Amino acid sequence: MAALKILVIPGSLRTGSFNARLAAAAVKELALLDADVTLISLADYPLPIYDGDFETSSGVPKPAVDLKRMIGAHHGVFIASPEYNSSVPPLLKNAIDWVSRVRDRNETFGQVFRERAFAIGAASDGKFGGLRVLMALRQILALGCGANVIPKQMALSFADEAFDEIGRLRDPADAELLRATLRQLIDAAQRMM
Ligand SMILES: Cc1cc2nc3c(=O)[nH]c(=O)nc-3n(C[C@H](O)[C@H](O)[C@H](O)COP(=O)(O)O)c2cc1C
Repeated sequence: MAALKILVIPGSLRTGSFNARLAAAAVKELALLDADVTLISLADYPLPIYDGDFETSSGVPKPAVDLKRMIGAHHGVFIASPEYNSSVPPLLKNAIDWVSRVRDRNETFGQVFRERAFAIGAASDGKFGGLRVLMALRQILALGCGANVIPKQMALSFADEAFDEIGRLRDPADAELLRATLRQLIDAAQRMM
């Protein structure tokens, strides 16, 4: 069987981002689980804030098409998102909105979301570990985009103290939750291959 390809997307560009660290920990874990992993940065997909008039006059920007095709080249996706005011930060929401507007030839809207497995994670320095953004992101992906979002999810609280100097999760319970989430992602992605 071809290697299972998993895409990892951190939802923050901040220097020292906890979610970028969570994404990096996920990359290591996925490699141990024998997945073929790609880590991207949304900085490489610069997009204007979605505007229907812009789309009508200029079409969907190329970075959105590129991001959609990057997602489409993988069997599963892990997104690590910050929580902003109990919801999804604009960087990530805007990227999802634009990707949802891309339709390649012979495809229906949203096909790229429906045909692969998604897992979600969040890291916050607060005690809830981004649980509210996980609910919001699940709604956007599953209800809005029709994605298959697996039930397990990774909420990392007190993220400012959660990683050691080489980026490993200090608390075995956090490490186990990440591993279990990624295992379930791999299982779901394999079933959809
Ligand atoms: C506008 C804004 C709103 C925020 N709202 C929340 C929130 O609702 N819940 C929370 O746990 N943290 C909140 N935070 C703190 C972020 O979780 C924290 O800045 C985190 O480090 C961002 O993720 P990153 O490290 O991956 O960039 C907020 C931060 C900003 C800038």
